[in-house]
Amino acid sequence: MESLTTRKQLNNGTSIPMLGYGTYKIKDPAEAYNSVKLALDNGYRHIDTAAFYENEKDVSTAITDFINAGHAKRDEIFVTSKVWKTELGYDKTLVAFERTMKEMTLDYLDLYLVHWPSSSAFDDDWVNTNRQTWKAMMEIYKSGRVKAIGVSNFLTHHLDTIIDMEIMPAVNQIEINPGFLQKDTVDYCQDKGIIVEAWSPLGRGKSLSHPVLQELAAKYGKSVAQIILRWEIQHDVIPLPKSVTPERIVENSQVFDFELDEDDMQSIDDIPPYGNSGHSPDAP
Ligand code: A2P
Repeated sequence: MESLTTRKQLNNGTSIPMLGYGTYKIKDPAEAYNSVKLALDNGYRHIDTAAFYENEKDVSTAITDFINAGHAKRDEIFVTSKVWKTELGYDKTLVAFERTMKEMTLDYLDLYLVHWPSSSAFDDDWVNTNRQTWKAMMEIYKSGRVKAIGVSNFLTHHLDTIIDMEIMPAVNQIEINPGFLQKDTVDYCQDKGIIVEAWSPLGRGKSLSHPVLQELAAKYGKSVAQIILRWEIQHDVIPLPKSVTPERIVENSQVFDFELDEDDMQSIDDIPPYGNSGHSPDAP
């Protein structure tokens, strides 16, 4: 049976656990430390942070303490961070990465992502900016300090700006929640072997009140959150649910003992846009 430790193959030969723990908005140091520790204690082996979240230090300290206590080996925990959108371009990305590595108590990252693309909507030189950023990412990858590189919030036209370069992104992390599957981007990535991750997989909690999802929760004897996470997993997407609530951290991990049938998958696909953030990668 699949579990929190089941991994998917990335296109560079490394692998990634098929469900992760998101840490966006957990800024308070004690809360960041304790919730990551709780996630690890409950079997999560994939932790997602970013420079923008301002918690890289506490998140990584929880991870290293867990490892030093003998509960897991470093290579059993998959750790991601990201370069923020104000630091795009070759030089700035290299500087941002060094800052992240200074902040984090780890020798290497499993995945480093470009958090947002540059876009024609706010940068006349956007294609070049994306290419220069990706050039820095490839250099970071070749240094061996990250096991894989990828992007986040790249739609198909952003991906097109770097797809011909020497190294293909291993991952694209985009917003996905019921009503907001972003199918064009998911299809583009899956066609090219780029693993898709979902941020805000529960629509920051807004998706939980949808009647279709509530009916399915009753039908399967699961919570609405579990139905949504299962829907994402069955779309071959890696969800990164965030919670600081102990029972929810456990609940969100228990999504491997049931399967949604095709009709129910379709009925979630058919939910009109609902609960998504409205953040566009083409807005400044
Ligand atoms: P909290 O952190 O207070 O537990 P997303 O992962 O889509 O960004 O959603 C995160 C939001 O959803 C947070 O506000 C979180 O609240 C809430 N949340 C996470 N898991 C669950 C769950 N299983 N049931 C209800 N709300 C949840």
